[in-house]
Amino acid sequence: MALTPADARLAGLYETSCKACHAMPGNLAPQVRDHAAWDPRWKQGETVLLDHTIQGFNAMPAGGQCASCTPEDFKALIRFMAGREDSAN
Ligand code: HEC
Repeated sequence: MALTPADARLAGLYETSCKACHAMPGNLAPQVRDHAAWDPRWKQGETVLLDHTIQGFNAMPAGGQCASCTPEDFKALIRFMAGREDSAN
């Protein structure tokens, strides 16, 4: 299974930013589609996750090394990595 966002533009952003850490087992980042790692974080709510992405959070760099990502892009990337693309909230 290709772990990459379905949307081509979003996939490009993912490939050049989040993926370097979030698809590299062994570092501190919650890995893509790892529900055990993401579910407790998801419970914080999307607003908190978005804030932590934009402002940084511990070893998570501010902006996730994606200078061209908009807040909507970040939200979509977080949903993709957390396996919540079809989430209603
Ligand atoms: C240089 C490595 C690196 C890159 C690049 C990166 N992250 Fe992270 N990210 C981390 C690490 C490490 C953590 C875990 C931080 C912690 O919990 O202490 C993290 C955690 C997160 C969290 C969870 C925050 C929370 O409150 O639990 C979100 C959401 C996130 N990253 C989104 C993204 C997105 C979206 C991108 C791409 C635009 C991205 N990250 C790129 C390293 C990275």
